[in-house]
Amino acid sequence: MHAPILAPSLLAGDHARLADSAQTVTEAGLTWLHLDIMDGHLVPNLTFGPETLAALRRAGSKLFFDTHLMLAEPHRYIEPFAKAGANLISIHIEPAYDHAATLARIRALGCQCGIVVNPGTPADAIEHLLDQVDLVLVMTVQPGFGGQPFRRDMLPKLTQLDEWRRERRLKFRLEVDGGIDPATAAECRAAGTDTFVAGTSFYKAADKAAFVAAFNRMK
Ligand code: DX5
Ligand code: ZN
Repeated sequence: MHAPILAPSLLAGDHARLADSAQTVTEAGLTWLHLDIMDGHLVPNLTFGPETLAALRRAGSKLFFDTHLMLAEPHRYIEPFAKAGANLISIHIEPAYDHAATLARIRALGCQCGIVVNPGTPADAIEHLLDQVDLVLVMTVQPGFGGQPFRRDMLPKLTQLDEWRRERRLKFRLEVDGGIDPATAAECRAAGTDTFVAGTSFYKAADKAAFVAAFNRMK
């Protein structure tokens, strides 16, 4: 199993000081930053675009940019995000477009690629893509907003994906996003998860070192 990675979500940072919020992640000794890109169509909210990633790079961030595209037409925006400094780009399975071609495009641009499933979408919907991705992201809330409660009913989906991964000797990371804190992360870890997005819980934690230590205690 992959070693656990904690990826704080910049959505819960200070949007007037995003570079400082990214720096907080580096100072906590972490290497991944989760970037939530919302278009007001696939999800009922708006966040930021490629220029924000580019600005974070110019400000000196060396973090691994785990870029979660919540876009109805993600295939139209792969190049700008790759150019802006994304390291991994994840796209949702729900909207209709050529998923396989878009994953291949992400790879061709030198990024890792991921596929995302909403709570209402079964694991079967992405089964045919599992051998083409570096990461599978299982949403543990309905995407759009931070601070929602963890959907425990997503645990069987994680178990199923982990089982397929082992049976087929695949290497993708299994990530969860939404309502993650040290306690819910431990439940997901037991179901095979190795990559944990935490927005509200990370940025609200007064003692970041203690928060990261709690994650690191997971086996
Ligand atoms: C939800 C986003 C998440 C969000 C998680 O739409 O995809 O990445 O930032 O926030 P928390 O950790 O607060 O649930
Ligand atoms: Zn996300």
